[in-house]
Amino acid sequence: MTTRNISISWIEFNSLEELNQSDKELVVAAREAAQKAYAPYSKFRVGAAVRLETGIIISGANVENAAFPSGICAERNALAFSASNYPSVKPIAIAVAAFTEQGLTKDPVPPCGNCRQVIVEEEFRNKNNIRVILSGESRIQIMEKGGDLLPLQFNRNNLKINSL
Ligand code: THU
Repeated sequence: MTTRNISISWIEFNSLEELNQSDKELVVAAREAAQKAYAPYSKFRVGAAVRLETGIIISGANVENAAFPSGICAERNALAFSASNYPSVKPIAIAVAAFTEQGLTKDPVPPCGNCRQVIVEEEFRNKNNIRVILSGESRIQIMEKGGDLLPLQFNRNNLKINSL
């Protein structure tokens, strides 16, 4: 029997001012995107901003639906837009921010499992890491890649699609 271990690390900041200009801009874009959320059911407004390698920022918000599973998260909305409109431009970072009715969440909000899976797919597709910037009022966390958030992930290697 073997016990195996996976550890991840991230960097953490206590205020937006500590971030470099590019990351700060991405977080601000995510916070702005959250204002455009359609979240009448959860009242939880999420914004995501994706930085492409060319510098362009693509943002998205969660869009809910009375048939709950038909709603979509902010991260997947932003990534779907970038993948469909800039298919050959790599996303290099994604920032996420969320608001309750009381305002910006105190703690960073991590992407849900479906969104993690989609971030990882984009990493494989584009053969590059996507930095993940999670921002709350009191803490900002930065992971070097989406894969850090999805240990033991299911990906194309499991399908043996090695030619892709
Ligand atoms: N939500 C996101 O937009 N991103 C996540 O990663 C977590 C959850 C949305 C989905 C739903 O509209 C609301 O937040 C409450 O779950």
